[in-house]
Amino acid sequence: MSKREFTDTNIDAGFDSDKIIELKNKNEQFFILNGRRKSYHILTYGCQMNEHDSEKISGMLTSIGYEETDDEKDAELVIFNTCLIRENAELKFFGKLGEVKGLKRNKPDMMVAVCGCMMQKDEIREKLLKKFSFVDIVFGTNTIHELPGLIYNVEFKNRKSIDIVENTELIYENMPKQRKFKYKALVNITYGCNNFCTYCVVPYVRGREKSREPEEIINEVKSLAQDGCREVTLLGQNVNSYGSNLEIGFTFAQLLREIDKIEGLERIRFMTSHPKDLTDDLISAIKDCSKVCNHIHLPVQAGSNEVLRKMNRKYTREHYLDLIEKLKKEIPDIAITTDIIVGFPGETEEDFLETVDVVRKVQYDSAFTFLYSMREGTKAALMVDQIPDEVKHERFDRLLEVLYPIVLERNSQCIGKTYPVLVESTSKTSENFLTGRTEHFRLVHFKGSEDLIGSTVNVKITNVKTFHMEGEIIN
Ligand code: 5AD
Ligand code: SF4
Repeated sequence: MSKREFTDTNIDAGFDSDKIIELKNKNEQFFILNGRRKSYHILTYGCQMNEHDSEKISGMLTSIGYEETDDEKDAELVIFNTCLIRENAELKFFGKLGEVKGLKRNKPDMMVAVCGCMMQKDEIREKLLKKFSFVDIVFGTNTIHELPGLIYNVEFKNRKSIDIVENTELIYENMPKQRKFKYKALVNITYGCNNFCTYCVVPYVRGREKSREPEEIINEVKSLAQDGCREVTLLGQNVNSYGSNLEIGFTFAQLLREIDKIEGLERIRFMTSHPKDLTDDLISAIKDCSKVCNHIHLPVQAGSNEVLRKMNRKYTREHYLDLIEKLKKEIPDIAITTDIIVGFPGETEEDFLETVDVVRKVQYDSAFTFLYSMREGTKAALMVDQIPDEVKHERFDRLLEVLYPIVLERNSQCIGKTYPVLVESTSKTSENFLTGRTEHFRLVHFKGSEDLIGSTVNVKITNVKTFHMEGEIIN
């Protein structure tokens, strides 16, 4: 095959074009000739937003006649859905891309596509196109729906394609989705972010916040419930500000109340909440709605007011702690999880100790902890007082020394109690074991047969670790 050249302009192939029919026909012929479908392998880095984007990519590929393979060596198409929130995500991706380069050398017709947050950054895209010229397709977070057209370009015109749109008001509804799980589903409610926390690249790569129309979301959840889905997670960078750009006034609390009415659905989760937008009305909705899980992921990021100010988080530690008090008072059974960044520029030992103090005060059920990672293009990357790596690591270790015993203690309080657990899958580590989560998002391993997957069973907790609990089914 001759070397593929990049088309120099963004194309607008669209999902609904005639090209899809041609592609489908070609893939059908492949099937007839080879007795198997063309296969794709997708590698997803980063958050649930990316995971869900990958479900849309899978949906589109299935609709044009591809099937998924777990092994990239077998794939006709390898797709990287990238993340650049922290440096290690970036490094992991480039390492893996290097491996695929070797594969492609032996299999020149293999197509390689790269998409996701990283591709929204001009410098990274340029570096990629220069250093990894074997990549055939590049698209971004706003152009997922263009993928069939991009594949068409490679298949029928032997042209590589790049399609990036920086910021868009448009939301593409009704993209086919191939969901990873039958019984739980991710559902976008907002895209993008307006908050510009000074450490974060998301507003630059996912654009301004836009909310889906409530009826689009409600209809999607209704149809999921009719298909047997038991749990939905409503996704947005800041779900609490849902509706702020909608012409009809509609809040996140209202949305929860509407989704709570949907028959067949058992659980509603949401990710992520921003403390500055957590209203009393929302707390009441969480309390009132029986299907909304008693769990909130409420990133604190830091416990010092000075650091919070420099992060542009728009709340103080006092406000955050007040919210926690209110949540615990209104919903005594609530589980609270968080995100914490250690080593933000200018963080002093005193600032750090204030973060540790918040962890002690809140008694988190679990937390994601991160070393501050300098991200080009963000305001924090320009701050002069960056913290040396050794200091960051040393603080990080000290934070975990406080956090883990708290998490273990919170889990220990579950011993002897029985919880409804939505069974998600078989356990990867032990035979005849299943895994699922309680409404508080605690992971539980227990013995049981595979046909229980998708149902809710009562599990009595017998033993706990920091990251999971063990139990037995009670009839
Ligand atoms: N460095 C470290 N952690 C970060 N996060 C976002 N950007 C950075 C960064 N530059 C963390 C925040 C956020 C989570 C998804 O990732 O804690 O809540
Ligand atoms: Fe990033 Fe802050 Fe937006 Fe979250 S709220 S995505 S941390 S800018």
